[in-house]
Amino acid sequence: MAELSQPTIPPAQRTRGVTYAIRDILLEASKAQARGKELLYLNIGDPNQFDFDTPPHVRQAIKDALDSGRNGYAPSAGYPESLEAIRRWAEGKGIRDIQDIFIGHGASEPIEIALSALVNRGDNVLTPAPGYPLYTAVLAKLEAEENPYYLDEANGWQPDPDDIQARVNPRTRAVVLINPNNPTGSVCSRAVLERVLEIAARHRLVVFADEIYDRLVFDGATMVSIASLRRDVPVITFSGLAKVFIGPGLRVGWAVTSGPAGVLKDYVGAMQQLTRARICANGPMQCAVPHALDGPLGFLTEVLVKLKRRRDLTVRAMNAIEGISCVEPKGAFYCFPRLEVPGLDDKRWVTELVHETGVVVVHGSGFRQRPGTAHFRIVYLPPEDVLERAYDAIARFMRRR
Ligand SMILES: Cc1ncc(COP(=O)(O)O)c(C=O)c1O
Repeated sequence: MAELSQPTIPPAQRTRGVTYAIRDILLEASKAQARGKELLYLNIGDPNQFDFDTPPHVRQAIKDALDSGRNGYAPSAGYPESLEAIRRWAEGKGIRDIQDIFIGHGASEPIEIALSALVNRGDNVLTPAPGYPLYTAVLAKLEAEENPYYLDEANGWQPDPDDIQARVNPRTRAVVLINPNNPTGSVCSRAVLERVLEIAARHRLVVFADEIYDRLVFDGATMVSIASLRRDVPVITFSGLAKVFIGPGLRVGWAVTSGPAGVLKDYVGAMQQLTRARICANGPMQCAVPHALDGPLGFLTEVLVKLKRRRDLTVRAMNAIEGISCVEPKGAFYCFPRLEVPGLDDKRWVTELVHETGVVVVHGSGFRQRPGTAHFRIVYLPPEDVLERAYDAIARFMRRR
């Protein structure tokens, strides 16, 4: 009783702007489930929840690491053999002038470390809209500002360099490119990347190249690593084992910093300081890195065949529904259909959808989108029969409205 009268502990104000729509929608989903709805999960980019698995040689490397004394603290940047494998992987993508590499807890932690070491309160970072919400959440936590630039839906969701240029201001420190993009599945053209580099060079911006889906591309789309195109612009390339190597729960990712040594020296030093302060990333898990990056990639053929079939099914089904249109994704495992119903609130739409049909998708505003438009994100990882059931339910739901 006495406890009830105590004042609550006020949380830090910086947590107020931190949201993560991908998981937030699960609160609504669990309410629908409690009322007896069967849920069809098209909301989370975790291939291991479906018929995909971490390749056996990667799993074996972790088991071997656990049995061979790799349970102590690792060096802060990571084990040397894992860092060397990442260096080879980066050089294979054409990245030169590598100044630093470190391994973190997923790609998420290196992204957070790289942002934390760069921005002061009130600085801003150009982020793609739509884009992955981690950047929004971390910038809110750092009391820095997100400076969203729009991807052009009419141009296959390519970044619009003119829009990027127009939004640069004296407090802009970096530009984020998510390539292939989450949530649209677009793959940046070389011409767009070159223009973004020109802008970065002109305004002394750091480029954050989030390439966690780099090998998941279809239809002969060419995935160009932006860091390979120019040597005078500082670029941090992020990737990890989560998506291409089908191990999001392993929580292994990395950052490769490339560009002019003199320009990057202090910034790299600050990132290293932050990596030391958190001791190290998971030891046994990062031992899988050389086996993954230098090992056989044959497993990807089947992954890409399955993903392409599911992508085709998804785009066909969405474009057949009146009131929905969908740009064909060229990579990753997401698409971002548009709801062509004037005045529609997409958060309400996805909430009603889950309560009525059990289909869980994420509202477009959770990834940011052009004002006045409404979208939702589909993760098309589930098997075709599940996708077909979900798309039939969405079609019926749209007809009833
Ligand atoms: C674009 C993008 N970057 C980073 C991440 C986070 O990756 P990790 O699970 O390795 O932290 C994700 C996860 O979905 C993502 O889509």
